[in-house]
Parts: sequence; structure tokens; C-alpha cells
Amino acid sequence: MYILGISCYYHDAAAALLKDGIIVAAAEEERFSRKKHDSSFPIKAIKFCLESQNITIKDIAYIGFYEKPLLKLERVLFQHLQMFPWSYKTFLSSLPSWINEKLRVPQIIRKKLKYKGDIFFIHHHLAHAASSFLVSPFEKAAILTVDGVGEWTTTAYGLGQGNKINLLKEIRFPSSLGLLYSTITGYLGFSINNSEYKVMGLSPYGLMDREKNEYYHRLKTIIDVKDDGSYQFDMDYFAYHYKDRMPSPKLCLLLKGPVRQPESELTQRHKDIAAALQMVTEDIMHRMLNHVYKVTGCENLVLGGGVALNSVGNGKILTSTPFKNIWIHPNATDGGNSIGVAAYVYNVILGHKRRFVLQSPFLGPEYSTGDIKTFLNKNNIKFRELSRDEIVPQTAKLINDNLVIGWFQGRMEWGPRALGARSILSNPCNQEMQEILNLKVKHREKFRPFAPVVCEDDALNYFDCDIPIPRPTDFMLMVYPIKKEWRKKIPAVTHVDGSGRLQTIRREINPLYYDLIKEFGKISGIPILINTSFNIRGEPIVCTPEDAYNCMMGTGIDCLVMDNYLIWRKDNLQHVWDSEKYAKD
Ligand SMILES: [Fe+2]
Repeated sequence: MYILGISCYYHDAAAALLKDGIIVAAAEEERFSRKKHDSSFPIKAIKFCLESQNITIKDIAYIGFYEKPLLKLERVLFQHLQMFPWSYKTFLSSLPSWINEKLRVPQIIRKKLKYKGDIFFIHHHLAHAASSFLVSPFEKAAILTVDGVGEWTTTAYGLGQGNKINLLKEIRFPSSLGLLYSTITGYLGFSINNSEYKVMGLSPYGLMDREKNEYYHRLKTIIDVKDDGSYQFDMDYFAYHYKDRMPSPKLCLLLKGPVRQPESELTQRHKDIAAALQMVTEDIMHRMLNHVYKVTGCENLVLGGGVALNSVGNGKILTSTPFKNIWIHPNATDGGNSIGVAAYVYNVILGHKRRFVLQSPFLGPEYSTGDIKTFLNKNNIKFRELSRDEIVPQTAKLINDNLVIGWFQGRMEWGPRALGARSILSNPCNQEMQEILNLKVKHREKFRPFAPVVCEDDALNYFDCDIPIPRPTDFMLMVYPIKKEWRKKIPAVTHVDGSGRLQTIRREINPLYYDLIKEFGKISGIPILINTSFNIRGEPIVCTPEDAYNCMMGTGIDCLVMDNYLIWRKDNLQHVWDSEKYAKD
């Protein structure tokens, strides 16, 4: 039995395919359409899912959708009436998408896919809860979901057991921890629903001291947090409930300055505000989690919703709460709900036992050796064919020689992070590497560190991880301190506070990637690589061999290791290196 899950029309549209209870394919639309955070109907992602199993839409038994559009409209109307006339303009501008898309989801699904079966619309936070619990390794777990907003809900908690999910309590719009993070992200001059992780990366440059950071105290005055972690905002400081911008003039007064212009100088005040936001977020999360533990009495925790991507906060959960084990979906935002709804239909609605744990994030498209060779030959691209045994030693040597490598192997990753299938890899021991990568490829803000990848069996030598190492580390979802003695030896991946957003890798999940890191360790003495996403700033991660080749040729990536083929940029100088032109958010 095949079930298709769909998320779309807000941001990060995605599709996932479940076969007899097992997720067999999942991908975001942006990877195919090449529009970052593409929210449109994921027709290309669905096509990929079906083709990956050699099936057609006739083979799909059920479709699940990641929210209830009518309930969401009810909230939008209520919000509009409450804030009228200030909300009039925003409401008017949102009408076409409601009329043409969001209220017509069933018709659109039937028309675009020629689908005649049943469609289930799942409450948005239930979909987040399902995406985090039903594919987790736990038989029983406490669940916390925190995002911007679903229909009405912005935060919910409950308990999952077997194939049942019971959400016990919720916090409703307009108070929203996710929207607080987005509001301050916008206030600091970064793009919302996109650059929240940059604010998280900026926070250690600010005053991470609850006593001394005045913005921390200021932010706390506008949020009423109860002992159980439930919270309520003073909405005078926000504008997102009636305007298309998020901070209100009163928030600018509170934070002692205007909204920062994008790309303008980042002052200490901006950094302190980022630190204050991160501390407030962690305070609320930890207080909620302590309460959730008290209510559920369960030592296993799963997290869902965009706030679950806050890897800095995640790294502190097991030391700040009584939870012993944690699992987070690699695609914890709305895209991941496509897996959530497919699993919800199969396990909860149809009542089947759970049969799948999401261990490997490699659920996207793959290209055969033959496909890649055909592409290279057709485009007269010069390459060298490597034997399977040569790939690892050759690549490790190139990385040790301080070259920047495009690494394209196997099925594409699921979720926002590159995890070793579509990655740019380089040498973390080189002091200059951060600058080289920024100059050649990424053009990103100087304050942002690169992430390290390490084999799981080596991780505790270099990082102060929780023990045993939690599984979300496989998906780069936990930030931990780098051991003091190693910080200076891996400067390119050490953040200003000595932390690293590490990915751990086990051999059974990706043997080639694992072997490469080990081989680099043999040559350099340190089995750690820089792993950054294979894209130019502002573009989606590459998907096809053509995307990968174009990305290399448009940047300063030195060579591409694509399946068995080694392709040098310098051998193929047809294009001018001009990634700067494309680098934008
Ligand atoms: Fe969400």
C-alpha cells in the first residue's frame, strides 16, 4: 500500500511516499524547481516519489495533507476582524492565494495529479507530532511541537505510544515562540523563515549572560512565562498579526534602535539582541520541557516544528531537563510534515503497527553511474574515471591539499542540511579555510562558522557530547562544545564560543562518507571534515549532476567527485567564475 504525504502553500513544499509503512522517498520541491523555500504545489517532488518506485498515481491508496485549510482560514478571518482596519491591506493581499490555492487544495490535488482516492487533512501540529514521533526509535515518547503557527496552534505537547498520539495542551496564535524568533530575525535585518539559524549563529558574539545582557531583561518584560512554560506575548510589540512586517514601532523602542538594514554593519547591540533572543528561547523551551516531563513521566522526548532546528538550544536539553533520550526529525519544519501525514494516515487512521525508524536521511533522487557518464559525455566535460577503491584515498588527499571539493554521491538528503550526499567538503585544520570557502563559494556573513562532520566512534575524542550521543546529531541538529585542546587545531569549524554544530556519521548509514573521513584522519591526524551544503548562498542545495557541475563551474570549487568521476574545474574553463553575482538570500 502506497500513501503520499504533501506539504505546500506556506513555505518549503515537499512530498513523501510511504510503502507498507516504510518511507521510501521524500524531497522538497525547491530542489527540482531551483527556487529556495519554494511553497508551490510540489508536483516535481511528487513525480520523483512516484518514479522512484516505478508507480503511477493510480497506485496511491491515500493522500495526506499537512494542515486543515478551513480551520486556518477561520484563524486568518478572526485575526483580520480583530485587527480591522489595520489588517485590511495584508488581508486583501492574501486573498488571491486563499481563493486560488489554499481553499482549493482538494480540487488542485485531484486535477494536478488526476487522483480519485481519499484525501486526509491532518491538523498541522498533529502532523508535526506525527513526523517526530511515528518515525522515531521510541515506542513511547513525550512530544513537544513548536513552530510559527499552524491553524491556530503555535505550541503543543502530548504523549505518543505505539501508534497513538495524544496532544494534551496547546498555546494559540498570536503568542508564538517561533514567530518571536522570526520577528527578531527580521528586526536584525535577516530574512524571516530562512535566516533564523543565522541569528542563532550570531548569538555567541553577544553577551550570553542573563544578569548583564540588558536586552534579555527587556525581552522578558513583553513575554509572560508561567511556571509550566506556557507563555503569552504583549502584542503591542509585534505587528505580524495584522501586517506583513513583524516588529512593531514599540519593539524598536524597546530594543533601542530601528530595524537593521540587510547587509549593513552588525554592531555589538545587534549581537547582544541575538544573544538575548537565544537565551529567552532556551529558557522557555527548557521550562516547557520540564513541565512536559512532569506531566508525561516519560524519559524519551521527540521535538517537532521549526524551533526544533535550534541546534544550540537542542544541545543543552539533556543537561537542562530530566529527559534521557531525544529524537528530532531531520526536516523538523513544515516540509517534514509530508512524512508526518503519510505516517499518520498509515499508523493512526488505518491503525497499522509502526514499522519504520527514520535513521538515514538519504531519501531523495539518485543518479546511476551510467546516467552521470552520459551527462558528462553529452556536455563534453573533461573527467577522470576512478575505480571504487580510488574514490576515498584520492578525495582525502585533495582535501588534505586544501582543495575545496564538491561531493555528490548517492541519494540526496532530506531536510535543510547537507549530510554527505550533496556536500562541499574541505580541510578544517586550515586556519584560512573559512575565508577560502567564503571567497570561493559561499559568500556568507563572516560571523557564520562552518560545520564539522566526524565519525560517531571518534566524536567523543573531540566534542563534549551527551553520552550516549543522541541520534539527532546524525542530522546536524545538536551543537556541542569542542574539547578545549582541539579548538585551535580545527579553527575552521570552531565557533567563537568554542562550539561546533557537528554531524556524526555511522558506517552503516553511509560507508563511503564514513571511510572518507577516516582516511582524511589517517593523512592529517584529525578525522574531521568541514561539511557545508553544496550550493551558492541563496540557492537550494544541488540535486542533479547538472546542478552540481554548474555550481562548481560558477564558483571556485576546485573539483567535483561525482559517483566514480573526478571533474576538475580548471580542466573545464568554459564559464567565468562569478558566483558573487548569484549570492543573495
Ligand atoms: Fe509548522
